[in-house]
Formats: sequence, structure tokens, C-alpha cells
Amino acid sequence: MSERQYINLVVTGASGRVGRLICELAGADETHWDLVGAVAHPRSTRLGQSSFSSADHATVITPHYGGKCDLVIDFSTPAGAETAIQIALRESAALLVGTTGLPESIVQVLQAASRRIPVLLAPNTSIGVATCARLVEIAARSLGPGYRVEIVEAHHSRKKDAPSGTALMLAEAARRGGAAIERDQIHALRGGDVVGEHTIRFAGEGEYIEVTHRATSRSLFAMGALRAGQWLVRQAPGFYCMDDLLSASAAPAGKPGTD
Ligand SMILES: NC(=O)c1ccc[n+]([C@@H]2O[C@H](COP(=O)([O-])OP(=O)(O)OC[C@H]3O[C@@H](n4cnc5c(N)ncnc54)[C@H](OP(=O)(O)O)[C@@H]3O)[C@@H](O)[C@H]2O)c1
Repeated sequence: MSERQYINLVVTGASGRVGRLICELAGADETHWDLVGAVAHPRSTRLGQSSFSSADHATVITPHYGGKCDLVIDFSTPAGAETAIQIALRESAALLVGTTGLPESIVQVLQAASRRIPVLLAPNTSIGVATCARLVEIAARSLGPGYRVEIVEAHHSRKKDAPSGTALMLAEAARRGGAAIERDQIHALRGGDVVGEHTIRFAGEGEYIEVTHRATSRSLFAMGALRAGQWLVRQAPGFYCMDDLLSASAAPAGKPGTD
């Protein structure tokens, strides 16, 4: 990364629901960010338009990016994520992938890339969801095998993947705590304009315990992605998750941490 205070950022999926918000936030904060690239689908109807609303500065949405950068943030599609990987590897830049529903083949490419650059795969960039994953792991470990685990997630009708990447990540957290959870214990609801809701329920004899996260605004994901990106550009090459960011944030002052 450059010695300057601000980070040269490229957003892939810049015309999308989340990508647009990231461009707006980064574009409005010139102290920390220089939005140098805004990439959308090669046939996007928004090519040539400004990626954020500013009278005196604009980063135009393009089908690709060929310049320098410190960080690539991707909220797009599996094909868009591949474009993000290419840009990040070419520039030895950090890469945050928020796109969900990635095929295993692309996850493997990300893992291989992480030997050269810092890569954060974050199916949910909310610090609250990362905290919920920790709670779920603790609950699964303390409650033991006598409790049936069910995950219910709800999203807006335009979401492409089901169940959500966040639900799969929470299932993994439950498994790390020792819970047995199969695919038919994860339920996806689609409809309306629901930003994102996840409930993990542990049902036992005479009681049930629920951990619920409700996203009420997509800005949450954009703010979380920028915060995680600021952390990621300072990391060594490696494959990171949001829990690593939580650990770094929780490291006691004066002790060596990863932050
Ligand atoms: N990690 C998280 O916290 C989080 C939170 C919310 C959503 N997500 C995930 O993030 C992804 C995007 O969500 P969204 O709601 O913002 O979707 P969206 O509104 O459909 O936006 C998708 C964006 O990707 C662009 N795109 C499509 N194919 C591309 C390609 N080949 N190369 C470059 N850009 C391409 C689209 O361009 P055009 O439409 O202009 O053609 C658009 O800008 C989804 O996988 C979603 O599940 C993650």
C-alpha cells in the first residue's frame, strides 16, 4: 500500500445496490479514500455515469479498470468477483469479496490468490453478524447435542442465492461449536424489500434459544466493507474472514495484535 493516508479503492459491482453505497461513502470521504475505479457489468446500463454524486469530482463507471490501486472491494456476481481477483493480483492490492453464492472453484482461486495478497471473503460485512457468529458457536458448544439447530433467513425478492452466504456462515459457526446441522435445517424466505434477517434457533426440552440479526439498512454492509478494507490493506498476504477483524479490534491495547 502507498505511504499516503488515503487508500486507492476500486469497487466492482459499482452500479449495484451495495456497490453504489460504497462508492457514495468513499467518494464523500476524501481524507481516507480515493475512489480510482468503479467497475460494473460490461453491458451495464450505467457505464459512463458517475459512481457517486459530487459536483466537482467524479469516478465514472467502466467495464474494466487498468490503473493502480491499493484495495479492490467486490459486491457483484461470481463473474464480477473474477474480474476483481484479476485486478487485485495485477496490482498486488488487497481484495475484499462480499459477493455471495460463489462456486467452490472461485473460492479456490481466492485461496490461491491469498498466497500473494491479503484476501477477505466476507459473506456479510456487518460487525453485528460477525458477533452473532461468535454467539452461535458459544451457544452450540454450551448447549451440546440435545438441541436441534434451525436457521431461518429472509431477504428481498431480487436476491439471487439461497440460502444466503450469511446463513451458511452461521451454520459453519454452529458446526465449530459441535452442532450437527444439515442443509434441510437452513430455511430461506424471499419477498418484499427485506434487507436481511437471520435467526438461529436452538430447540431443546422445555426451552429454545434464539440469536437474531436484522439488517435495517444496506449502508451497514457498505460501512462494514470500508472498515474491513482499511484493516485489510495493512495485513500480510493471507485468507481472512470477518472474525479476524473482530479479533484484531478486541486485541488489548499495548499487546501485539494483527491490527
Ligand atoms: N457481504 C455482504 O455483507 C453482502 C451484503 C449484501 C449483499 N451481498 C452480496 O453482494 C452481491 C451484490 O449484491 P447487490 O444487492 O448489490 O446486487 P446488485 O444490485 O444486483 O448489483 C450487482 C452489481 O454487479 C455488477 N456486475 C454484474 N456482473 C458483473 C461483471 N461480470 N463484472 C463486473 N460487475 C458485474 C452489476 O452491474 P449492472 O447491474 O450495472 O449490469 C451491479 O453493479 C450479491 O452476491 C449479494 O448477495 C453481500
